Formats: sequence, structure tokens, C-alpha cells
Amino acid sequence: MKKLGKGLMGLAVLCMSIYIFSACGQASAPDSGDGYTLDNIRNYVVGLDEQMELDNGSKKAVTNFDNAATTPALQPVADEVEEELKKYGSIGRGFSPKSDHSTDLYESTRDKVLEFVGADPEKYTVFYVNSTTDGLNKLASALIEKKSDVVLTTRIEHHSNDLPWRESGTVIYAEVDDQGRVMYDEIEKQLKNNKVKYVSVTAASNVTGYVTDVHRVAKLAHKYGAKIIVDGAQIVAHRKFSMIGETEDENIDFFVFSAHKMYSPYGGGAVVGLSDVLMEHMPKFYGGGTIYIVGDDWVEYADAPKSYEAGSPNYPGVVGMGKAIDILQEIGFEDIEEHEKILNRKLVDGLLKIDNSIVYGDSEDLSDRVGVVTFNFSDVNTSLVAEQLSQHYGIATRRGAFCANPYVWRLYGLTDEEVRNFAECSDVNTPGMIRVSFGIYNTEEEVDYLLKVLPDAIKRAKAENEKNFNLANPLY
Ligand SMILES: Cc1ncc(COP(=O)(O)O)c(C=O)c1O
Repeated sequence: MKKLGKGLMGLAVLCMSIYIFSACGQASAPDSGDGYTLDNIRNYVVGLDEQMELDNGSKKAVTNFDNAATTPALQPVADEVEEELKKYGSIGRGFSPKSDHSTDLYESTRDKVLEFVGADPEKYTVFYVNSTTDGLNKLASALIEKKSDVVLTTRIEHHSNDLPWRESGTVIYAEVDDQGRVMYDEIEKQLKNNKVKYVSVTAASNVTGYVTDVHRVAKLAHKYGAKIIVDGAQIVAHRKFSMIGETEDENIDFFVFSAHKMYSPYGGGAVVGLSDVLMEHMPKFYGGGTIYIVGDDWVEYADAPKSYEAGSPNYPGVVGMGKAIDILQEIGFEDIEEHEKILNRKLVDGLLKIDNSIVYGDSEDLSDRVGVVTFNFSDVNTSLVAEQLSQHYGIATRRGAFCANPYVWRLYGLTDEEVRNFAECSDVNTPGMIRVSFGIYNTEEEVDYLLKVLPDAIKRAKAENEKNFNLANPLY
């Protein structure tokens, strides 16, 4: 990893007047015919040709490289939701053929999810959630019994796999190495030195795309009497994932994922967890749907999964997720993985040829990365570059610290103290990188387009800076 010198990071410049950016066509779906493949999937992505207005008033179809944030809908997923809405009735409670139909589909999708992640229905239960964040919060609320319960996580994590544990228990962290990879010996060291109850790790990073060997972590966790929870937000649409390892001690105990990151943006997601553990606990979410019977001043709660699904269910979310699972499986994860590797390689090689580029993570060995590449340029502010890419070229990226602040600061080489000082400067844009994240429908031609326009976008960003902002430090 090419690192910036500390000098460039100098926090003295941070309190300067800096502009704060708010960083923060329907394909007509032909008959699937021979089935869904990477070669034909662009025909089924909703909105790829939709003409969007740019700042200069012209219209352009967006080249979307922001798939780690959320993915567009697939037309067959949208069609399935629309079709099922015709037969929609209340789930689990009504007496009507529609209610029966919807309840059957809602319940049988649990089996589909179990099969998708290779989990044994005899041992595992699926409960539906709104998103990975929702699922991790529900697990934290259910499993953590007291503040002194220790959760081991890592410094690569998204805030959603960090803050719920900070708020409910005592969190300790395993560090990442110089390239930003999870350090397995650090995980073991922490397990050896602490009485850890749960280890919670991401299966793939939303910043560098690194894939964690979660089965190796499971083996370590189990060796020291802990259980393992896996944040699957960035793996489900990218790699074949199985909760079952080569040996029983490598099995994953809990797996959490969001459907909107797998081409079904209707909310929805799932937690797959050990039934016996789920049955022993309940999240602090109460109300309709969670009970067996209620008296004047007593309650008997239902078993999991009902006890984890307070309130009326998000039926379109479940229907869409089920269809998205079918399509991803039909395309095949081997092809998806191969495709992402080609796009990653092309982009990283192209970026490294641009003057003053900084590509985060290991840019030589890309074999353990899903389709995510993050970068900066040491001579231009990347907020301005991302803005130019969006508004001049219709290219969607993400710019910021990607809800994984502690990890991003490490990749920058910033200490916690430096970040604290920086946080005190209220008029400063937060440090950030540009992230390109690939979906199944992105092409090599799209990567070529990005690489072709980047030098011009950088030039425009520099001119914009001189004219309007005078940003002293390209990073902020
Ligand atoms: C690794 C990781 N975990 C968790 C989340 C949270 O997912 P959601 O926003 O769907 O709750 C994300 C979202 O980007 C993520 O990338």
C-alpha cells in the first residue's frame, strides 16, 4: 500500500476554511429464455438506461459504481414482487386464501435462505430483518445480557458491526495489518487473553473488499468457548457463502445480511442463527407478532423466529429477497467472482498509472477481494473529483469514510488523537476516499470509461478548487 507521509496529513491545516460537501430507464425485461447469466444480466437491471439530469442540464444514463452501498433492482425481482402483491394478504393471522398464500411464501422463503447459506434446518432458524444493521442490533439486544459481556470484533468493521456491541456490551478489537487485512493471530491473542462471549466479524470489507476467512475465525472462537457472528452484508451478492465449514468447529453460528445489496431494494434481510441460542433469548423489541398469549399483567412470548419479528412483516422485502437468491444462484458465484477479479485488476492497474494516485489495500494480490476499490490522489481533493465524475460524466461512486471510520483512519495512517483533533474542527470536511464497487452488471467498458475520464475529472476538480474552494489539503 502506498501510504501518505504524515506531513501531508498535517492537522494544522484542518481548521482552514473548507467547504463541506454533502457527501454524504427501465430495461424492458425480455423473457429469461436460457436463464440469467453475467452475459445477459444487463437486460434485467432496472433503470440502467434512465437518463438523469447532470449539473450542466444535459441528460445521461448513470454508470453505477456504488453497488456496495446498494444495488439496483433486477426486473424479475420487481416483477415477482408485483405479481405476489396481487395475492397479498396478512401474514400468519388472517383467514383467507390470500393470507394463506402469503403466509406460505413468507414461511417457505426461510427454507430458501437456509439453503442459500448451507444451514441445517434442524439446527438453524431464520428471522427476517430490515437490513444488516437491524439484524446486528437485534442480535446485540438479544444475546448481550450485561455490559460486562465481551464481544471481540476487528478494526476492519462497518459501524453496524461495531456500535451495537459498544452500546450493549464490552467490545475489544483485533487490529488490521499494514495492508488493512484482518490479523488472525491478533484474534487468537484477544481470545486467549479475554473471556470473549461472541466474536463478530465481517465476511467482506466495504472499504477494501477483503474477504475474511470466517471459518478460520469460527475455529478460533470455538476453541476459546465463544460463538461467532458474521456480518454478511458485502458477501451475499459476491461470493458463495456457506455457514458450514470443513469441520464442525468451523461452522458459523450467526449470519446476517441485507437484501438491498443483492438486487432487491425493498428493505428486507435475514439473520440465520443457532436455534437453541435464539430460543434462549429475545431482543428488546416487543409487540404484535411476538407473543403466544398475553394476560392482564403477564405475557408468554413465542419462540424464535416469531419472538424476533415484532410488528407486521415486510412482505415485499421477503418476496424480493427470495427471487434475488434464485437469480444469483442461477448466474453462479464462480462466474461472479471471476468477473469481479477482472474488473478489480483492470481498475487497480489503470489507477496506478495515474499520477499521484493512492490505491488502498494490497494492489498486487487482489485474490482475496470482492469488487471494491478505494483510492485517492495526493494532489487533488477527492470530494471535488467525485463531484466531477458524477456531475460531468454521470459516474456514480462513493466518497467518504464509508461508515467504517476507524478502519479508514488506519488506512490513512491517522492516529486516534489526530482524528480527535480533527473532529474538533467543525468546519472541516471529513477525510475521505473514492470508492468504486462493482455489481454483476458492470462491464470492462465501464471501467475503461472511468479510467479515460479520470484525468480530465482531476483537472476539472483542480480548477474548481482554485476558483471556489482553495482546499489546503487534498484529503479533506
Ligand atoms: C460490511 C457492512 N456491514 C453492514 C452494513 C450495513 O448494511 P445495511 O445498511 O444494509 O444495514 C454495510 C452497508 O454498507 C456493510 O457494508
